[in-house]
Amino acid sequence: MEKKTLRESFGFILLVAGIGFFVVGFIFQMLGPVVFLNKIPMKSVEEMASRVSPEFTLLSEDYPEEFRKAFGEPTPESYAQALLEGRDIYIAEGCWHCHSQYVRPIANEPLRYGAVSVASEYQNELQLPQLFGTRRVGPDLIREAGIRSNDWHMQHLYDPQSVEPKSVMPAYPWLFDEDGRPTRRAFSMVAYLQWLGSWQNPEEKER
Ligand code: HEC
Repeated sequence: MEKKTLRESFGFILLVAGIGFFVVGFIFQMLGPVVFLNKIPMKSVEEMASRVSPEFTLLSEDYPEEFRKAFGEPTPESYAQALLEGRDIYIAEGCWHCHSQYVRPIANEPLRYGAVSVASEYQNELQLPQLFGTRRVGPDLIREAGIRSNDWHMQHLYDPQSVEPKSVMPAYPWLFDEDGRPTRRAFSMVAYLQWLGSWQNPEEKER
């Protein structure tokens, strides 16, 4: 009789502790981000696009006719539009199924991808929703800016195996017209890829 009461009360303690830890965890998961992240300013797309990237300008020079048709001139306004659309295509095409956007401080990741990611890099409109991703069939992309040329990206999106013969990445020919020339969608996609990590200083990006 006595033994049963003991077992019952032990179970009761475990139950209370379990619920208690759940509540504490729940509160901290909620409060943590609010308390620690609200001091980091949230950046708008316009702010981030105020300085047009050299790669975006280069796209307008290398594909003058196509670029003019798609975006006109490379201005902060058209650059902001391209970044937003590039991000949307990245989501719509499911690039995030195979690519992460987060360098972790483990397993020599900084050696492969560059500086470890920090919270402030994700406090901006293009990271709503954040695109950390869930798995890595391909390489992490948060330090992609400047690693490859615009032309490499164009060719790779049109036909990945033509530049990486063993690649399992699918082709995205619908970002191009019937003659294989880049459309607004291809320019946006490449502008977005060349933006990822462009805020890092070059020495930290070495791969
Ligand atoms: C089925 C998985 C898969 C999907 C979906 C996918 N990729 Fe990839 N991606 C890969 C693999 C694997 C590689 C490495 C081989 C290569 O370079 O093609 C790669 C490489 C890349 C690289 C080169 C990275 C570097 O510098 O080495 C870029 C950029 C890239 N992908 C962008 C994209 C974009 C943009 C999309 C969506 C439009 C996309 N990927 C969709 C698997 C994928």
